[in-house]
Amino acid sequence: MFNYDEQSKLYLKRGIPVPTKDMIRTEEQIKGIKEAGRINSLILDEVAKNIKAGMTTNDINEIVHKKTIELGGIPAPLNYEGFPKSVCTSINDAVCHGIPDDTVLKDGDIINVDCTTIYNGYYGDASRMFLIGNVSKKAKKLVDVTKEALDMCVREIKPYSRLRDIGYIIEKYCNENGFSVVHEICGHGCGVGFHEDPYVFHFGKKGTGMVLFPGMTFTIEPMVNEGKRQVFIDASNDWTVYTEDGSLSAQWEYHLLMTEDGLEILSK
Ligand code: MF3
Ligand code: CO
Ligand code: CO
Repeated sequence: MFNYDEQSKLYLKRGIPVPTKDMIRTEEQIKGIKEAGRINSLILDEVAKNIKAGMTTNDINEIVHKKTIELGGIPAPLNYEGFPKSVCTSINDAVCHGIPDDTVLKDGDIINVDCTTIYNGYYGDASRMFLIGNVSKKAKKLVDVTKEALDMCVREIKPYSRLRDIGYIIEKYCNENGFSVVHEICGHGCGVGFHEDPYVFHFGKKGTGMVLFPGMTFTIEPMVNEGKRQVFIDASNDWTVYTEDGSLSAQWEYHLLMTEDGLEILSK
């Protein structure tokens, strides 16, 4: 069985940074975070069932808000640091933090829907890409490569891996496929709060960063651009991030638990 104090001592002796003790969730917290993750995925399932061309991003907001309340949850984005809606909807060159409005989904669009749910005080956070109608080959490849980069992490990252191994795997695979990885926005500890330590970078040097201990819960949520990695924030709302060169961007987010055997997906 994992013992925090023992393991920390061993790693610190070797000069390797360790998670703080509060990053290791208690059994009770894990139970609560798992439930929140499960509810969060049900909400994304509801979006998947209904999303289609002709619908507005406000309609997606409505679906998420209604389903969240129906399931006994609270949509975490609503009023979070002033965010005005219950979900993030980011279309085409929008990288993340798109605000639902009366924009109509049209044939050929790619859209990320990012849901976060508070359930019994615990948080679940995940996002998916949706292809609207007939999408270009290149857009589909971008969406698939982004997801595969994330799935590679789930397969390869183990307890006692290093935090920056995650980003190393992601950026290497995406670059090999001709795409670039956004550096400015990261995954994060998640479960007891919305955005907790540590930052989970989607780029980095293999074998660096803190050691990952069993009991940690965090997201990995790579944002991958078809063109250059540079981004800017929409000055009109101070939220939505866009690719600087106007190229397409894709993102997938999983909420994960590090177990003694590897990563378990709590919400996807
Ligand atoms: N769900 C996003 C994440 O993965 C955060 C959205 S913050 C919001 O971290 F305020 F824009 F909703
Ligand atoms: Co999210
Ligand atoms: Co997140």
